[in-house]
Amino acid sequence: MARKDNHVVGIDVGTTQVRAIVGEPRPDGTISIIGLGVSPTEGMKKGAIIDLELTVEAIASAAAEAERMCGFKIDSAYLGLQGLNTELINNRGVVAVQSDDREIRAEDLERVIQAARVIALPLEREIVEVIPREFIVDGYDGIRDPVGMLGVRLEIDAMIVTSSTTSLRNLVRCVNRAGINVSGMILLALAGAEVALSDDEKELGVFFVDIGGGTTEISLFQQGKLRQLAAIPVGGDHITSDLAVGLRTSFYMAENIKIEYGSAFASLASDEADIEISSVGSREKRQISAKEISRYLEPRVREILQIIREEMVKMGWPELPPAGAVFSGGVSQMNGLIELASMIYESDRVRCAEHDFVGIQNPIYTNAAGLLYFVNRQQYRYSRQERRETTYQSKPGLWQRFKDWMFEIID
Ligand SMILES: Nc1ncnc2c1ncn2[C@@H]1O[C@H](COP(=O)(O)OP(=O)(O)OP(=O)(O)O)[C@@H](O)[C@H]1O
Ligand SMILES: [Mg+2]
Repeated sequence: MARKDNHVVGIDVGTTQVRAIVGEPRPDGTISIIGLGVSPTEGMKKGAIIDLELTVEAIASAAAEAERMCGFKIDSAYLGLQGLNTELINNRGVVAVQSDDREIRAEDLERVIQAARVIALPLEREIVEVIPREFIVDGYDGIRDPVGMLGVRLEIDAMIVTSSTTSLRNLVRCVNRAGINVSGMILLALAGAEVALSDDEKELGVFFVDIGGGTTEISLFQQGKLRQLAAIPVGGDHITSDLAVGLRTSFYMAENIKIEYGSAFASLASDEADIEISSVGSREKRQISAKEISRYLEPRVREILQIIREEMVKMGWPELPPAGAVFSGGVSQMNGLIELASMIYESDRVRCAEHDFVGIQNPIYTNAAGLLYFVNRQQYRYSRQERRETTYQSKPGLWQRFKDWMFEIID
């Protein structure tokens, strides 16, 4: 299969599915999605790898499907990093601008990012990503891109993403074993927010809540930036298990029934007994209503929404922030979920993530698509910066260099 250099690949290894997505950057800075591969997986539980081989197979199979669609070989990809085992640490770095003419160059940026990386970490944790929040030049703050400005003292206010070494290395190992190099790791919360939230929402203050199969992540954005992140090991799989026990049926059947007929709000569901189910150990089939199904679902959904609320309170928001809460992940698709969340959070500022990429409107793809958009935006920014820089010839390209400083890549 042919190889291609100018594409971006994102891989989201979720508890229930692996998604590989391929994008082609356009000259105007946007990106088109040209390949998508999805593979169900049983190699993960609650966001952690429990079976290496099954995870490798699912990654390889999702990548192969995406390759067939886009027509070229995927040899490297950006990997989504989920929030469990992840910690955000704020840190600052400061350096003196080195050039005689006091123009800030890419080298100064490299040094200040390196300065921000200097933190004491326990042995079992490592830095995955450095996210600049703002730069400060001679005391003037709020600067997004200081390259080309004049100054003496360059400071950075950065967020350092750290993760557990073991879970990180095992994930990277699975991707490598599937024949793919890791170009960088990006917090899924940041990636998802890239496509699910508007700039205004991020500015005003908003919660981005991703309820997946095995994990739920709650991230708070304010003044345009990610401020806090919490992750809990509960999700749609728990809702399905409750239904399987309630109906005495298999997990597989309960999963299908939940998705097709379930509602998070039992009082909104139909009470017509027109759904046929079979119970484990019985050859008899019986008819039940969507309301009965939803009665098994609602308590767990309520519990998950309450746990989310507790996390929001811990982050300092007993009430929703001005732009409310945006839900994504598979569970956000559940009938009645938004209505139930509105009731529990006593707010109408609750909505489901929406995006309109061809063929992938479903919010289970929000994070994977977000990986492409996130990388593409950074890449475009640095390529513009490179064109602007006349005095400093960087080799390799600026984007490559920034990538190396910002993402710790473990092979
Ligand atoms: N229409 C739907 N109604 C109810 N639940 C749904 C629906 N669609 C998907 N789900 C549930 O969403 C969950 C999967 O969501 P998602 O694909 O976002 O998780 P994941 O990324 O694989 O896992 P995680 O993020 O926890 O690691 C499953 O529990 C699935 O049953
Ligand atoms: Mg997920």
